[in-house]
Amino acid sequence: MSFEYVGDDLYCEGVSLARIAQEQGTPVYVYSRTALEGAYRAFDQALAGTKHHICYSVKANSGLGVLSVLIKLGAGADIVSGGELFRWLRAGGDPKKVVFSGVGKTDAEMGAALDAGILVFNVESEEELDALDRVARARGVRAPVALRVNPDVDPQTHPYISTGLKKNKFGIGWAAAPAVFRRGAALAGIEMIGIDCHIGSQLTKTSPFSDAIARLVELVLALEKDGIKLRTLDIGGGLGIDYEKDGDGPPPTPGEYGQAVTRALAPLAHLDLTLLTEPGRVIIGRAGALVAKVVYRKTNEGKHFTIVDAAMNDLMRPALYGAYHPMRPVHLAGRAEQVTDVVGPICETGDFLARDRALPLLEAGDLIAIGAAGAYGAAMSSNYNTRPRAAEVLVSGDRYQVVRARETLEQLIANERVAE
Ligand code: LLP
Repeated sequence: MSFEYVGDDLYCEGVSLARIAQEQGTPVYVYSRTALEGAYRAFDQALAGTKHHICYSVKANSGLGVLSVLIKLGAGADIVSGGELFRWLRAGGDPKKVVFSGVGKTDAEMGAALDAGILVFNVESEEELDALDRVARARGVRAPVALRVNPDVDPQTHPYISTGLKKNKFGIGWAAAPAVFRRGAALAGIEMIGIDCHIGSQLTKTSPFSDAIARLVELVLALEKDGIKLRTLDIGGGLGIDYEKDGDGPPPTPGEYGQAVTRALAPLAHLDLTLLTEPGRVIIGRAGALVAKVVYRKTNEGKHFTIVDAAMNDLMRPALYGAYHPMRPVHLAGRAEQVTDVVGPICETGDFLARDRALPLLEAGDLIAIGAAGAYGAAMSSNYNTRPRAAEVLVSGDRYQVVRARETLEQLIANERVAE
């Protein structure tokens, strides 16, 4: 794979992480272009038997570096804000391959997306449908719409990243969907073209996908009986990745996912539908690592802490979800293992990157690689504690490029003023 030891030193492709840390400082996000491209192609290949578009979920990692690599491979985008649309277009992305999701699209965001000429709006409520109708009519155009339905399927994942249950804020309730669809079809500013769902993230089984698709199939067939022919069917994202936690089996491969999806879609073979998918994590997650440096060690009443220079502002997932990320020393020094918490310098008890983790003893100055951090790592980073966001580099073979420079303190306060 792309992060491997060469002798005692951890490399990303042909570049040692120690060299990147030396030249760019720490913390630093490192992405493997080969892993990114490989993950995209594997996902694309898995759906080869079905007419489909991959709309990469920009929120997982919205850096221009990552987006531009995917754009070259032909990717489309799943966006959830005007900001993500702006990034996608700046990176050279095709607006006609964009799906716009999210429960709270504003008039301004809808207008920008209509002006850009996106593929479809995934509409999540009746009020949103009316707003989009109004914004489109004011421009003299019709907005292409897919209804996001909530199939009420348990994705069996972390509650914060479950979206397809009745109690979640997403989508239109299952029972109401056909009526809302017909209502949309009657609006002058709306063109109803599809159905959409997204049931959650980091799914580690294929059955919730199959169950959700089965419900979409029911709806598509019911609409067909009413004479409504859809053009797109969007099954969202959500395929999980291997975070290498003991006891968790590996998630389904893209191939297994593709088979399950294809099987579930079989009853719609007679229709000329384009399948849309919105994968994020499975495309970029394992292609990225966060490299940090040990600042201090300490032991409180027998409990060990390894304090590193990355923190919850750089990688929020452990603090927010109790998420597990694999960790490896950048240099293997043959040291014995010790069970330690790996924590950052932020003044919060929640500022940990790992708890009770057995790792070869790490000393001040040693580097550590926090793996599977490509998705929802940099994208969710913040400036809490006035910490500049980390640099990000993209490795390709034996070269690397800085795709995001480390923020400076001046940039952090550039928009602030002292009180008059
Ligand atoms: N489509 C929609 C409508 C979504 O809401 C999401 C993710 C995706 C696609 C992409 O899901 P993926 O393929 O990446 O699982 N911050 C959390 C994940 C939140 C996901 C939100 N929606 C985490 O770090 O685990």
